[in-house]
Amino acid sequence: MSITVILGAQWGDEGKGKITDLLAADADLVARYGGGDNAGHTVTVGTERFALHMIPSGILYPRVTCLLGGGMVINPGRLLEEMDLLADRSVDVSSKRLKLDGRAHLILPYHIALDGVSERARGGAAIGTTLRGIGPAYTDKVARTGIRAQELLHPSTDLERRVCDQVAAKNLLLERVYGQPPLDAGTIVQVLLTHAQRLAPYISDGTEEISHALRSRKRILAEGAQGTLLDIDLGSYPFVTSSNPTIGGMMTGLGIGPHNIERVVGVVKAYQTRVGAGPMPTEAGGEAAEVLRGTGAQPWDEFGTTTGRPRRCGWLDVVSLRFAVQVNGLTELAITKLDILSRFDEIPVCVAYQLDGQRLETLPTDVAILERCRPVYENLPGWGTDITGVRVFSDLPPAARGYVTRIEELLGVRASYVSVGPGREQTIHW
Ligand code: GDP
Ligand code: IMO
Ligand code: MG
Repeated sequence: MSITVILGAQWGDEGKGKITDLLAADADLVARYGGGDNAGHTVTVGTERFALHMIPSGILYPRVTCLLGGGMVINPGRLLEEMDLLADRSVDVSSKRLKLDGRAHLILPYHIALDGVSERARGGAAIGTTLRGIGPAYTDKVARTGIRAQELLHPSTDLERRVCDQVAAKNLLLERVYGQPPLDAGTIVQVLLTHAQRLAPYISDGTEEISHALRSRKRILAEGAQGTLLDIDLGSYPFVTSSNPTIGGMMTGLGIGPHNIERVVGVVKAYQTRVGAGPMPTEAGGEAAEVLRGTGAQPWDEFGTTTGRPRRCGWLDVVSLRFAVQVNGLTELAITKLDILSRFDEIPVCVAYQLDGQRLETLPTDVAILERCRPVYENLPGWGTDITGVRVFSDLPPAARGYVTRIEELLGVRASYVSVGPGREQTIHW
Protein backbone atom coordinates (compact mmCIF):
# COMPACT_ATOMS: atom_id res chain seq x y z
CA MET A 1 0.00 0.00 0.00
CA SER A 2 2.62 2.57 -0.85
CA ILE A 3 1.50 4.15 -4.09
CA THR A 4 0.19 7.69 -4.18
CA VAL A 5 -1.44 8.69 -7.44
CA ILE A 6 -1.56 12.34 -8.47
CA LEU A 7 -3.93 13.06 -11.32
CA GLY A 8 -5.78 15.92 -12.95
CA ALA A 9 -9.46 16.29 -12.11
CA GLN A 10 -10.30 18.78 -14.87
CA TRP A 11 -9.04 19.46 -18.42
CA GLY A 12 -5.34 19.36 -17.62
CA ASP A 13 -2.93 22.05 -16.37
CA GLU A 14 -4.30 21.80 -12.84
CA GLY A 15 -0.82 22.07 -11.30
CA LYS A 16 0.09 18.37 -11.26
CA GLY A 17 3.77 19.20 -11.75
CA LYS A 18 3.86 21.43 -8.68
CA ILE A 19 2.03 18.91 -6.48
CA THR A 20 4.13 15.97 -7.73
CA ASP A 21 7.35 17.86 -7.05
CA LEU A 22 6.08 18.71 -3.58
CA LEU A 23 5.21 15.11 -2.71
CA ALA A 24 8.36 13.77 -4.36
CA ALA A 25 10.35 15.13 -1.40
CA ASP A 26 9.20 11.97 0.44
CA ALA A 27 9.24 9.55 -2.48
CA ASP A 28 11.74 7.04 -3.86
CA LEU A 29 10.25 6.53 -7.31
CA VAL A 30 8.13 8.89 -9.44
CA ALA A 31 6.51 7.43 -12.55
CA ARG A 32 4.54 9.01 -15.39
CA TYR A 33 1.91 6.60 -16.66
CA GLY A 34 0.44 8.07 -19.82
CA GLY A 35 0.53 10.70 -22.53
CA GLY A 36 3.71 12.11 -23.95
CA ASP A 37 5.05 15.54 -24.73
CA ASN A 38 1.53 16.92 -25.09
CA ALA A 39 1.93 17.42 -21.33
CA GLY A 40 3.65 20.44 -19.86
CA HIS A 41 4.28 20.20 -16.12
CA THR A 42 5.79 23.21 -14.40
CA VAL A 43 7.96 22.93 -11.32
CA THR A 44 9.14 26.11 -9.63
CA VAL A 45 11.98 26.03 -7.13
CA GLY A 46 13.02 29.43 -5.84
CA THR A 47 13.62 31.57 -8.91
CA GLU A 48 14.11 28.54 -11.15
CA ARG A 49 11.34 27.22 -13.34
CA PHE A 50 11.35 23.83 -15.08
CA ALA A 51 8.84 22.89 -17.79
CA LEU A 52 8.74 19.10 -17.99
CA HIS A 53 7.00 17.32 -20.83
CA MET A 54 7.87 13.63 -20.48
CA ILE A 55 10.28 13.39 -17.58
CA PRO A 56 8.50 12.92 -14.23
CA SER A 57 8.28 15.91 -11.90
CA GLY A 58 10.39 14.14 -9.27
CA ILE A 59 13.58 14.59 -11.29
CA LEU A 60 14.80 17.54 -9.21
CA TYR A 61 15.43 15.34 -6.16
CA PRO A 62 18.71 13.48 -6.78
CA ARG A 63 17.56 10.58 -4.56
CA VAL A 64 14.45 9.89 -6.60
CA THR A 65 14.31 7.41 -9.47
CA CYS A 66 12.11 8.54 -12.36
CA LEU A 67 10.27 6.16 -14.66
CA LEU A 68 8.60 6.88 -17.98
CA GLY A 69 5.89 4.26 -17.93
CA GLY A 70 4.81 1.79 -20.59
CA GLY A 71 1.52 3.62 -21.12
CA MET A 72 3.36 6.64 -22.48
CA VAL A 73 4.12 7.59 -26.06
CA ILE A 74 7.65 8.90 -26.48
CA ASN A 75 9.17 11.07 -29.16
CA PRO A 76 12.81 9.91 -28.89
CA GLY A 77 14.36 13.12 -30.22
CA ARG A 78 12.29 15.33 -27.94
CA LEU A 79 13.06 13.12 -24.94
CA LEU A 80 16.78 13.49 -25.60
CA GLU A 81 16.34 17.27 -25.92
CA GLU A 82 14.49 17.38 -22.60
CA MET A 83 17.25 15.34 -20.97
CA ASP A 84 19.91 17.66 -22.42
CA LEU A 85 18.10 20.77 -21.19
CA LEU A 86 17.99 19.32 -17.67
CA ALA A 87 21.62 18.20 -17.82
CA ASP A 88 22.60 21.74 -18.86
CA ARG A 89 20.97 22.90 -15.63
CA SER A 90 22.97 20.35 -13.60
CA VAL A 91 20.11 17.90 -13.11
CA ASP A 92 21.31 14.29 -13.08
CA VAL A 93 19.55 12.47 -15.91
CA SER A 94 21.83 9.45 -15.97
CA SER A 95 20.42 5.99 -16.59
CA LYS A 96 20.96 5.20 -12.90
CA ARG A 97 17.94 7.28 -12.02
CA LEU A 98 15.99 7.75 -15.23
CA LYS A 99 14.27 4.71 -16.76
CA LEU A 100 12.08 4.24 -19.81
CA ASP A 101 9.78 1.23 -19.89
CA GLY A 102 10.46 -0.72 -23.09
CA ARG A 103 6.70 -1.06 -23.58
CA ALA A 104 6.24 2.66 -24.30
CA HIS A 105 5.38 3.36 -27.92
CA LEU A 106 7.45 5.68 -30.05
CA ILE A 107 6.19 8.83 -31.73
CA LEU A 108 7.86 8.99 -35.14
CA PRO A 109 7.81 11.82 -37.72
CA TYR A 110 4.87 10.30 -39.60
CA HIS A 111 2.71 10.53 -36.48
CA ILE A 112 3.42 14.24 -36.21
CA ALA A 113 2.74 14.77 -39.91
CA LEU A 114 -0.57 12.92 -39.63
CA ASP A 115 -1.61 14.84 -36.50
CA GLY A 116 -1.12 18.09 -38.43
CA VAL A 117 -2.91 17.13 -41.63
CA SER A 118 -5.84 15.43 -39.89
CA GLU A 119 -6.38 18.46 -37.65
CA ARG A 120 -6.33 20.73 -40.69
CA ALA A 121 -8.74 18.44 -42.52
CA ARG A 122 -11.19 18.64 -39.62
CA GLY A 123 -11.52 22.39 -40.27
CA GLY A 124 -14.00 23.95 -37.86
CA ALA A 125 -14.38 20.61 -36.07
CA ALA A 126 -10.67 20.42 -35.17
CA ILE A 127 -9.88 19.06 -31.70
CA GLY A 128 -7.13 21.58 -31.13
CA THR A 129 -4.51 18.94 -30.41
CA THR A 130 -0.99 19.84 -29.34
CA LEU A 131 0.25 18.58 -32.76
CA ARG A 132 2.78 16.32 -31.07
CA GLY A 133 1.64 13.16 -32.87
CA ILE A 134 -0.07 11.75 -29.78
CA GLY A 135 -3.32 10.55 -31.40
CA PRO A 136 -1.66 8.87 -34.41
CA ALA A 137 0.91 7.13 -32.15
CA TYR A 138 -1.81 5.69 -29.90
CA THR A 139 -3.77 4.77 -33.05
CA ASP A 140 -0.83 2.64 -34.19
CA LYS A 141 -0.54 1.08 -30.75
CA VAL A 142 -4.18 -0.01 -30.85
CA ALA A 143 -3.84 -1.12 -34.48
CA ARG A 144 -0.83 -3.20 -33.37
CA THR A 145 1.48 -1.53 -35.86
CA GLY A 146 3.36 0.63 -33.36
CA ILE A 147 7.10 0.58 -32.68
CA ARG A 148 8.01 0.17 -29.01
CA ALA A 149 10.97 1.61 -27.12
CA GLN A 150 12.36 -1.85 -26.35
CA GLU A 151 12.97 -2.38 -30.06
CA LEU A 152 15.72 0.24 -29.81
CA LEU A 153 17.73 -2.10 -27.59
CA HIS A 154 18.67 -4.40 -30.42
CA PRO A 155 18.09 -2.47 -33.65
CA SER A 156 17.74 -5.06 -36.37
CA THR A 157 16.92 -5.22 -40.01
CA ASP A 158 13.47 -6.30 -38.88
CA LEU A 159 13.01 -2.97 -37.04
CA GLU A 160 14.24 -1.09 -40.11
CA ARG A 161 11.85 -3.02 -42.31
CA ARG A 162 8.90 -2.37 -40.01
CA VAL A 163 9.63 1.36 -39.86
CA CYS A 164 9.94 1.45 -43.66
CA ASP A 165 6.62 -0.42 -44.00
CA GLN A 166 4.99 2.12 -41.70
CA VAL A 167 6.42 5.05 -43.63
CA ALA A 168 5.14 3.53 -46.87
CA ALA A 169 1.66 3.06 -45.40
CA LYS A 170 1.58 6.58 -43.97
CA ASN A 171 2.89 8.06 -47.22
CA LEU A 172 -0.13 6.61 -49.01
CA LEU A 173 -2.34 8.59 -46.64
CA LEU A 174 -0.22 11.72 -46.72
CA GLU A 175 -0.03 11.82 -50.52
CA ARG A 176 -3.35 10.42 -51.66
CA VAL A 177 -5.72 11.60 -48.94
CA TYR A 178 -4.07 14.79 -47.78
CA GLY A 179 -2.09 15.82 -50.88
CA GLN A 180 1.16 16.15 -48.94
CA PRO A 181 4.71 15.27 -49.97
CA PRO A 182 5.90 11.82 -48.82
CA LEU A 183 8.33 11.30 -45.94
CA ASP A 184 11.71 9.73 -46.53
CA ALA A 185 11.96 6.33 -44.83
CA GLY A 186 15.76 6.22 -44.98
CA THR A 187 16.14 9.48 -43.07
CA ILE A 188 13.60 8.42 -40.44
CA VAL A 189 15.42 5.11 -39.87
CA GLN A 190 18.81 6.78 -39.71
CA VAL A 191 17.73 9.36 -37.13
CA LEU A 192 15.98 6.65 -35.10
CA LEU A 193 19.12 4.50 -35.02
CA THR A 194 21.13 7.47 -33.74
CA HIS A 195 18.55 8.08 -31.01
CA ALA A 196 18.54 4.35 -30.21
CA GLN A 197 22.22 4.44 -29.31
CA ARG A 198 21.71 7.19 -26.75
CA LEU A 199 18.43 5.88 -25.35
CA ALA A 200 19.37 2.19 -25.03
CA PRO A 201 20.90 2.46 -21.52
CA TYR A 202 17.66 3.97 -20.21
CA ILE A 203 15.32 1.26 -21.47
CA SER A 204 14.20 -1.23 -18.88
CA ASP A 205 11.25 -3.31 -17.72
CA GLY A 206 9.09 -0.69 -16.01
CA THR A 207 6.77 -3.10 -14.23
CA GLU A 208 9.78 -4.87 -12.77
CA GLU A 209 11.14 -1.51 -11.55
CA ILE A 210 7.81 -0.88 -9.82
CA SER A 211 7.48 -4.37 -8.46
CA HIS A 212 11.03 -4.26 -7.08
CA ALA A 213 10.30 -0.89 -5.48
CA LEU A 214 7.12 -2.29 -3.91
CA ARG A 215 8.95 -5.34 -2.54
CA SER A 216 11.60 -3.04 -1.07
CA ARG A 217 8.87 -0.95 0.57
CA LYS A 218 9.82 2.13 -1.43
CA ARG A 219 7.43 5.02 -1.67
CA ILE A 220 6.05 5.44 -5.17
CA LEU A 221 4.31 8.40 -6.78
CA ALA A 222 2.34 7.91 -9.99
CA GLU A 223 2.10 11.20 -11.87
CA GLY A 224 -0.83 11.67 -14.21
CA ALA A 225 -0.76 13.83 -17.30
CA GLN A 226 -3.69 15.63 -18.90
CA GLY A 227 -6.93 15.40 -16.88
CA THR A 228 -10.05 13.34 -16.23
CA LEU A 229 -12.19 15.22 -18.77
CA LEU A 230 -9.59 14.57 -21.50
CA ASP A 231 -9.76 10.79 -20.97
CA ILE A 232 -10.36 8.86 -24.21
CA ASP A 233 -13.05 6.73 -22.54
CA LEU A 234 -14.45 8.96 -19.82
CA GLY A 235 -13.83 12.47 -21.16
CA SER A 236 -15.76 14.82 -23.43
CA TYR A 237 -15.25 12.65 -26.51
CA PRO A 238 -14.16 13.42 -29.24
CA PHE A 239 -12.54 16.53 -27.69
CA VAL A 240 -10.12 14.44 -25.67
CA THR A 241 -6.61 13.08 -25.81
CA SER A 242 -5.93 9.49 -26.91
CA SER A 243 -4.96 7.95 -23.58
CA ASN A 244 -6.46 7.32 -20.14
CA PRO A 245 -5.34 10.03 -17.69
CA THR A 246 -7.76 8.53 -15.12
CA ILE A 247 -6.95 5.90 -12.50
CA GLY A 248 -7.38 2.93 -14.86
CA GLY A 249 -4.66 4.33 -17.11
CA MET A 250 -2.35 4.35 -14.11
CA MET A 251 -2.85 0.64 -13.53
CA THR A 252 -2.26 -0.40 -17.15
CA GLY A 253 0.32 2.32 -17.83
CA LEU A 254 2.54 1.16 -14.98
CA GLY A 255 1.34 -2.38 -14.35
CA ILE A 256 0.04 -1.87 -10.83
CA GLY A 257 -2.86 -3.64 -9.14
CA PRO A 258 -5.52 -1.69 -7.20
CA HIS A 259 -4.55 -3.10 -3.80
CA ASN A 260 -1.24 -1.22 -3.95
CA ILE A 261 -2.91 2.18 -4.19
CA GLU A 262 -2.91 4.07 -0.94
CA ARG A 263 -3.95 7.60 -1.93
CA VAL A 264 -5.49 9.12 -5.04
CA VAL A 265 -4.90 12.86 -5.00
CA GLY A 266 -7.08 14.79 -7.43
CA VAL A 267 -5.44 18.05 -8.43
CA VAL A 268 -8.14 20.70 -8.79
CA LYS A 269 -7.46 24.19 -10.02
CA ALA A 270 -9.62 26.62 -7.99
CA TYR A 271 -11.32 27.62 -11.25
CA GLN A 272 -11.65 25.97 -14.65
CA THR A 273 -9.44 26.09 -17.75
CA ARG A 274 -9.35 24.23 -21.04
CA VAL A 275 -7.02 24.34 -24.06
CA GLY A 276 -8.38 23.19 -27.37
CA ALA A 277 -11.96 22.74 -28.53
CA GLY A 278 -14.99 21.13 -26.91
CA PRO A 279 -17.75 22.10 -24.50
CA MET A 280 -16.93 24.00 -21.33
CA PRO A 281 -20.16 24.95 -19.53
CA THR A 282 -18.55 27.41 -17.11
CA GLU A 283 -16.39 29.23 -19.65
CA ALA A 284 -16.35 32.92 -18.76
CA GLY A 285 -16.32 35.71 -21.29
CA GLY A 286 -15.25 39.32 -21.21
CA GLU A 287 -13.43 40.80 -18.29
CA ALA A 288 -13.76 37.81 -15.94
CA ALA A 289 -11.96 35.54 -18.43
CA GLU A 290 -9.23 38.13 -18.97
CA VAL A 291 -8.70 38.55 -15.25
CA LEU A 292 -8.52 34.77 -14.68
CA ARG A 293 -6.14 34.31 -17.61
CA GLY A 294 -3.78 37.17 -16.79
CA THR A 295 -1.84 39.05 -19.43
CA GLY A 296 0.93 36.52 -19.96
CA ALA A 297 3.37 38.64 -17.96
CA GLN A 298 3.53 36.02 -15.18
CA PRO A 299 4.69 32.45 -15.84
CA TRP A 300 1.55 31.08 -14.18
CA ASP A 301 -0.83 33.10 -16.36
CA GLU A 302 -3.13 30.86 -18.36
CA PHE A 303 -1.13 30.24 -21.52
CA GLY A 304 -0.19 26.66 -22.44
CA THR A 305 3.14 25.34 -21.12
CA THR A 306 3.51 23.17 -24.24
CA THR A 307 1.94 25.25 -27.01
CA GLY A 308 1.75 28.79 -25.61
CA ARG A 309 -1.94 28.93 -26.59
CA PRO A 310 -4.19 31.10 -24.38
CA ARG A 311 -6.27 28.79 -22.18
CA ARG A 312 -10.04 29.17 -22.06
CA CYS A 313 -10.95 30.24 -18.53
CA GLY A 314 -14.06 30.03 -16.38
CA TRP A 315 -15.49 29.13 -13.00
CA LEU A 316 -15.14 25.97 -11.00
CA ASP A 317 -17.42 23.23 -12.33
CA VAL A 318 -18.52 21.02 -9.45
CA VAL A 319 -20.70 18.83 -11.68
CA SER A 320 -17.69 17.63 -13.66
CA LEU A 321 -15.57 17.47 -10.49
CA ARG A 322 -18.08 15.14 -8.84
CA PHE A 323 -17.61 12.91 -11.87
CA ALA A 324 -13.82 13.05 -11.43
CA VAL A 325 -14.18 12.11 -7.75
CA GLN A 326 -16.34 9.15 -8.67
CA VAL A 327 -14.44 7.68 -11.64
CA ASN A 328 -11.02 8.01 -10.01
CA GLY A 329 -12.01 7.19 -6.45
CA LEU A 330 -10.28 10.34 -5.24
CA THR A 331 -9.26 10.06 -1.61
CA GLU A 332 -8.21 13.71 -1.30
CA LEU A 333 -7.91 16.97 -3.20
CA ALA A 334 -5.02 19.33 -3.86
CA ILE A 335 -6.58 22.70 -4.66
CA THR A 336 -4.23 24.93 -6.66
CA LYS A 337 -4.11 28.58 -7.72
CA LEU A 338 -6.41 29.76 -4.94
CA ASP A 339 -4.36 33.00 -5.01
CA ILE A 340 -5.70 33.84 -8.47
CA LEU A 341 -9.22 34.14 -7.07
CA SER A 342 -8.05 36.96 -4.76
CA ARG A 343 -8.74 39.18 -7.78
CA PHE A 344 -12.55 38.84 -7.44
CA ASP A 345 -15.17 40.28 -5.06
CA GLU A 346 -17.55 37.45 -5.73
CA ILE A 347 -16.73 33.95 -7.00
CA PRO A 348 -19.32 31.88 -8.86
CA VAL A 349 -19.17 28.11 -8.42
CA CYS A 350 -21.21 25.89 -10.74
CA VAL A 351 -23.16 23.44 -8.57
CA ALA A 352 -25.52 22.06 -11.24
CA TYR A 353 -26.42 22.46 -14.89
CA GLN A 354 -29.65 23.70 -16.40
CA LEU A 355 -30.84 21.83 -19.48
CA ASP A 356 -34.18 22.52 -21.17
CA GLY A 357 -35.61 23.90 -17.94
CA GLN A 358 -34.43 20.89 -15.90
CA ARG A 359 -31.76 20.88 -13.21
CA LEU A 360 -28.99 18.39 -13.94
CA GLU A 361 -26.59 17.21 -11.25
CA THR A 362 -24.59 14.71 -13.32
CA LEU A 363 -22.29 15.12 -16.29
CA PRO A 364 -23.98 14.26 -19.62
CA THR A 365 -22.04 11.69 -21.65
CA ASP A 366 -22.89 13.33 -24.99
CA VAL A 367 -20.92 16.47 -25.87
CA ALA A 368 -23.83 17.79 -27.96
CA ILE A 369 -25.92 17.79 -24.77
CA LEU A 370 -23.09 19.14 -22.63
CA GLU A 371 -22.76 21.97 -25.14
CA ARG A 372 -26.35 23.00 -24.36
CA CYS A 373 -25.96 22.86 -20.57
CA ARG A 374 -25.99 26.17 -18.75
CA PRO A 375 -24.31 26.53 -15.36
CA VAL A 376 -26.29 27.04 -12.17
CA TYR A 377 -24.06 29.19 -9.99
CA GLU A 378 -23.75 29.61 -6.28
CA ASN A 379 -21.94 32.88 -5.57
CA LEU A 380 -19.33 32.75 -2.85
CA PRO A 381 -17.76 35.87 -1.33
CA GLY A 382 -14.24 36.85 -2.38
CA TRP A 383 -11.51 37.84 0.09
CA GLY A 384 -9.83 40.64 -1.85
CA THR A 385 -6.44 40.28 -0.24
CA ASP A 386 -3.12 38.72 -1.22
CA ILE A 387 -2.81 35.17 0.16
CA THR A 388 0.43 34.11 -1.52
CA GLY A 389 2.35 34.39 1.75
CA VAL A 390 -0.07 32.27 3.81
CA ARG A 391 1.28 28.88 4.99
CA VAL A 392 -1.29 27.82 7.58
CA PHE A 393 -4.94 27.19 6.80
CA SER A 394 -6.22 29.16 9.78
CA ASP A 395 -4.28 32.22 8.53
CA LEU A 396 -6.33 32.36 5.32
CA PRO A 397 -9.05 35.03 5.27
CA PRO A 398 -12.40 33.53 6.37
CA ALA A 399 -13.85 33.78 2.83
CA ALA A 400 -10.89 31.85 1.37
CA ARG A 401 -11.33 29.15 4.02
CA GLY A 402 -15.04 29.19 3.21
CA TYR A 403 -14.30 28.63 -0.48
CA VAL A 404 -12.15 25.58 0.26
CA THR A 405 -14.57 24.05 2.76
CA ARG A 406 -17.52 24.61 0.39
CA ILE A 407 -15.66 22.66 -2.34
CA GLU A 408 -14.92 19.86 0.13
CA GLU A 409 -18.57 19.82 1.15
CA LEU A 410 -19.88 19.78 -2.43
CA LEU A 411 -17.49 16.99 -3.44
CA GLY A 412 -17.50 14.97 -0.24
CA VAL A 413 -13.68 14.77 -0.30
CA ARG A 414 -11.24 16.59 1.95
CA ALA A 415 -8.57 18.90 0.59
CA SER A 416 -5.17 18.07 2.04
CA TYR A 417 -3.22 20.64 0.07
CA VAL A 418 -4.08 24.21 -0.86
CA SER A 419 -1.63 25.94 -3.15
CA VAL A 420 -1.33 29.72 -3.08
CA GLY A 421 1.52 30.24 -5.53
CA PRO A 422 3.77 28.29 -7.90
CA GLY A 423 6.63 27.82 -5.40
CA ARG A 424 7.15 24.63 -3.40
CA GLU A 425 6.81 26.56 -0.16
CA GLN A 426 3.61 28.30 -1.27
CA THR A 427 1.51 25.42 -0.07
CA ILE A 428 -0.79 24.86 2.87
CA HIS A 429 -0.79 21.24 4.01
CA TRP A 430 -2.39 19.57 6.97
P1 GDP B 1 0.18 20.74 -14.95
O1 GDP B 1 0.18 20.45 -16.41
O2 GDP B 1 -1.02 20.18 -14.27
O3 GDP B 1 1.45 20.35 -14.27
O4 GDP B 1 0.05 22.33 -14.82
P2 GDP B 1 0.90 23.43 -15.65
O5 GDP B 1 2.29 23.44 -15.16
O6 GDP B 1 0.68 23.24 -17.11
O7 GDP B 1 0.12 24.75 -15.28
C1 GDP B 1 0.03 25.21 -13.97
C2 GDP B 1 0.68 26.60 -13.86
O8 GDP B 1 0.31 27.20 -12.63
C3 GDP B 1 2.20 26.53 -13.81
O9 GDP B 1 2.72 27.71 -14.37
C4 GDP B 1 2.51 26.46 -12.31
O10 GDP B 1 3.79 26.95 -11.96
C5 GDP B 1 1.44 27.37 -11.78
N1 GDP B 1 0.95 27.08 -10.43
C6 GDP B 1 0.76 25.90 -9.81
N2 GDP B 1 0.18 26.08 -8.61
C7 GDP B 1 -0.02 27.41 -8.49
C8 GDP B 1 -0.63 28.24 -7.50
O11 GDP B 1 -1.13 27.79 -6.48
N3 GDP B 1 -0.67 29.60 -7.75
C9 GDP B 1 -0.15 30.15 -8.88
N4 GDP B 1 -0.25 31.46 -9.04
N5 GDP B 1 0.42 29.39 -9.82
C10 GDP B 1 0.47 28.05 -9.64
P1 IMO C 1 -0.96 18.49 -18.95
O1 IMO C 1 -0.36 17.18 -18.55
C1 IMO C 1 -4.08 20.59 -21.16
C2 IMO C 1 -5.50 18.68 -24.85
C3 IMO C 1 -5.19 19.43 -26.13
C4 IMO C 1 -6.38 19.03 -26.95
C5 IMO C 1 -6.61 17.58 -26.56
C6 IMO C 1 -5.99 16.56 -27.51
O2 IMO C 1 0.02 19.59 -19.08
O3 IMO C 1 -2.13 18.82 -18.09
P2 IMO C 1 -3.48 15.76 -27.94
O4 IMO C 1 -2.30 16.54 -28.42
O5 IMO C 1 -3.30 15.13 -26.63
O6 IMO C 1 -4.02 14.82 -28.97
O7 IMO C 1 -4.63 16.89 -27.76
O8 IMO C 1 -6.02 17.43 -25.28
N1 IMO C 1 -4.33 18.40 -23.98
C7 IMO C 1 -4.03 19.08 -22.88
N2 IMO C 1 -4.62 20.16 -22.32
N3 IMO C 1 -3.04 20.00 -20.55
C8 IMO C 1 -2.45 18.92 -21.09
O9 IMO C 1 -1.47 18.22 -20.46
C9 IMO C 1 -2.92 18.42 -22.32
N4 IMO C 1 -2.56 17.39 -23.12
C10 IMO C 1 -3.43 17.38 -24.13
O10 IMO C 1 -5.13 20.81 -25.89
O11 IMO C 1 -7.52 19.76 -26.55
MG1 MG D 1 0.30 21.47 -18.26
